[in-house]
Formats: sequence, C-alpha cells, structure tokens
Amino acid sequence: MREPFAGWLRLVAEVFASALERTAMEDALRASEGMKSAILSSLSNGVAVLDSDGTIVAVSQSWTIEGATVGSNYVTAWRETARAGASHGSDAAAGIAAVLARERDSFAFEYTARDPTAERWYSMVVVPLNQPDGGAVISHTDVTERKRAEVNAQRSRQELAHFTRVSTMGALAASLAHELNQPLAAILSNAQAARRFLDAARPDLGEIRSILSDIVEDDKRAGKVIEGLRELLRKGETEVELLDLNALIRDVVKLLGSDALIRRVRMHLDVAAEPLIVAGDRIQLQQVVLNLLVNAMDAMADCPTEERVVSVQTELCNGQTARVSVQDAGPGILTGQHDLLFEPFYTTKPTGMGMGLSISRSIMEAHGGLIWATNNPARGATFSFAMPIRNGTAT
Ligand SMILES: Nc1ncnc2c1ncn2[C@@H]1O[C@H](COP(=O)(O)OP(=O)(O)OP(=O)(O)O)[C@@H](O)[C@H]1O
Ligand SMILES: [Mg+2]
Repeated sequence: MREPFAGWLRLVAEVFASALERTAMEDALRASEGMKSAILSSLSNGVAVLDSDGTIVAVSQSWTIEGATVGSNYVTAWRETARAGASHGSDAAAGIAAVLARERDSFAFEYTARDPTAERWYSMVVVPLNQPDGGAVISHTDVTERKRAEVNAQRSRQELAHFTRVSTMGALAASLAHELNQPLAAILSNAQAARRFLDAARPDLGEIRSILSDIVEDDKRAGKVIEGLRELLRKGETEVELLDLNALIRDVVKLLGSDALIRRVRMHLDVAAEPLIVAGDRIQLQQVVLNLLVNAMDAMADCPTEERVVSVQTELCNGQTARVSVQDAGPGILTGQHDLLFEPFYTTKPTGMGMGLSISRSIMEAHGGLIWATNNPARGATFSFAMPIRNGTAT
C-alpha cells in the first residue's frame, strides 16, 4: 500500500521541483502559484512543501497539523514535540532532516497521537524535491481506520489460534495424561520403597535420601509437562522474541512423544548443525509445528505400522532463511486438493475442523514467512515453512 503511495508523492515532488526550477529563484513560489495551488487543492491528504531549511512554504487544504503553518519550520516543530515528551518526535525530526540533507531519498513514519477522544494513527511520508535548492514534500495521512482493522485482524487471528490450540490439546489429552502418568507412577513407587526402607530395624538413610531426590526429580518432570501445557493454552498477546527454531522443534516433538507412541508413529528428527535464530512468537510457531506433526500422523493412520515415520528436518538456506519440513508417508496430497489445503474449514477428516493449516499460514504470514506443501517422489507429502534468520542469540 505504501509503495504506490510513495510513488505518487514522488510525482507531486517532481512537479513541484520542475515548477520551481523553471522560474527565477526569488519569485519561484509566486510564479508557480497557479500550478501549486491547483495541485495542492486537489490532494485529499495533508501535504506540505518544505524549503531546504525545513520551513513550510506551501500546504494543501487538508493539511491541518497544529502549529505547522506556512512560514513555520516543520523540523523544529517536531523537535519541540520531542521536548514536550513525545518519544517519536526526535525520530521524525531526524528523518525529515535526513531527507532535506539528501542523506536519504525518502522517509516513512507511522505514529500515534491522542486526540481528545481517542488514540489516532498517522502516517507520514517525506520525499525530496528534486531541484538545486533542495527541499521536500511531506504527506500526512490519518490511517487510524486501517490500523484498527489491522489490530482487529490480529486479535481475531489470536483468538482463532487459541481456540484451535485448545482443541488440539483436547485431542492430545490422552497422550498428555500418559506423559504425566509416568512421573506420577515413579513418585508413587519411590515413596512406597522409601516407606519400606523406613520400616527396617536400621533404616539406610543414604538410600532414603537418594529415593527422595528421585521423587523431587520426577515431580519436576511432571511440573514441566504441566508448565508446557499451560504455556500452550495461555491466551496471550503476541510476544516476539529471538528464538532457536531447532530447540523449539525439539520441544514440540517431545510434547508429542507419547501421542506418537500411542499411534505407533516413529518420529525422526534431523536438525541443522547451527542454531536457527528467528524472531517470532514462541507459542504461535510451536503451534505451526504441532499442526504439521499432527496432520502427518493423521495422514498415516491407515498405513502399516512399520511405515509410519514422520521426518522433521530443519536447515539453513542461503545463510538467510530457516526452513523446516515435515515429511510423512501417507497418501499425499490428492489431485485437486492443493489449492484447498490452506483454506479455512477445508477438511477431509470426520472430526477435523479444517483450521490447522489455515491458522499456520496466517501465523507464517505474520512472521514474514511462507508455508507450502509438496508430494514426495515416492509417497506421502512434505509440508514446509520458511522464515528469515536473525542475528543474535535466543532469549
Ligand atoms: N500430511 C498430510 N497428508 C495428506 N493430506 C493432508 C496432510 N495434512 C493436511 N492434509 C489435508 O489437508 C486438510 C486440512 O488440514 P488442516 O490441518 O487445515 O485441517 P484438519 O487437520 O482437517 O483439521 P484441524 O483443524 O483439526 O487441523 C486435511 O483434512 C487433509 O485432507
Ligand atoms: Mg490439522
């Protein structure tokens, strides 16, 4: 959306620049008055023309920025808002100054401001005037409606993602119970053993101490399972952090371990040697991996047991993209199904919701990534996603 707009603004800048260039310096503005006002009055955005010092020399009718009228200095006005406490003021001033100094060939900036009733969003684009004397054209737009729509879309995505996460977890309940049962059973038998030791005439305290340590460890293990679940069921705002995709995938594979066992599916994990650091929301990315793994296992429900293998692979491509693929040996993607897979509510499963892949795609889009599916040469399908690598270390 911004690109064509910036192009349009550049056109306005060029018209102004040539109008100014064609006339003598001192009466440049006066001589081009007719053209200038014709252009300015036709604009629905707030537009202002600055000279090379940042002084406003002309504004459109819809330019209604308080305290920024013809004759005043726009860069100074932003610096003043910074001094008055607006944190974005100095960024804006620096961006405009950089365009005026021809250090940058455009500057785009979005910021919020409170009007008396509500918070509003504004977008500002600055492009240079292409004339010897320099200067710039500023366009100022109220983008509150678009921002609200974005926020609403983000909220619905989060709610839907949460909803499907909860239902996936519901489906996994049996295997999670199994996962919890292991440490609980170990705690029970250790506690019984300790009691027997205590019944002895001369209890072996060393042995009892080691039994108690085992109990503590098992308790921690159970706690971790519950913690992981809580985390996944949490209904939270998106939280972007730097994380290692390899570690994240190991966690999800572990979480699904008992489910795989019950379904007699072997999981084969092949992770890249180097950490794959990406910026993302941990829970959302876990959900993508979870969806792909559950789908892969579902796809092999009718395969002979020995063929039920899911291979998860992570790799670094071109040094800048992390790619994760989940390969199964099921029936693969059916003819004509390719375009439907990622559509909401498309499912071929009796109890499916058809939301897994559609949610995964919107999560990937929000992370600047891609998700796609291909059939394997021999049999089965491979679902992959890719997203940009970041510099830094996982938090
Ligand atoms: N690995 C796979 N192999 C073959 N077909 C698949 C695979 N993964 C997904 N599909 C097809 O894509 C459809 C949509 O998958 P999606 O995950 O969006 O929904 P679902 O698994 O049916 O339901 P849920 O909302 O519970 O995830 C599936 O019903 C299935 O037909
Ligand atoms: Mg699914």
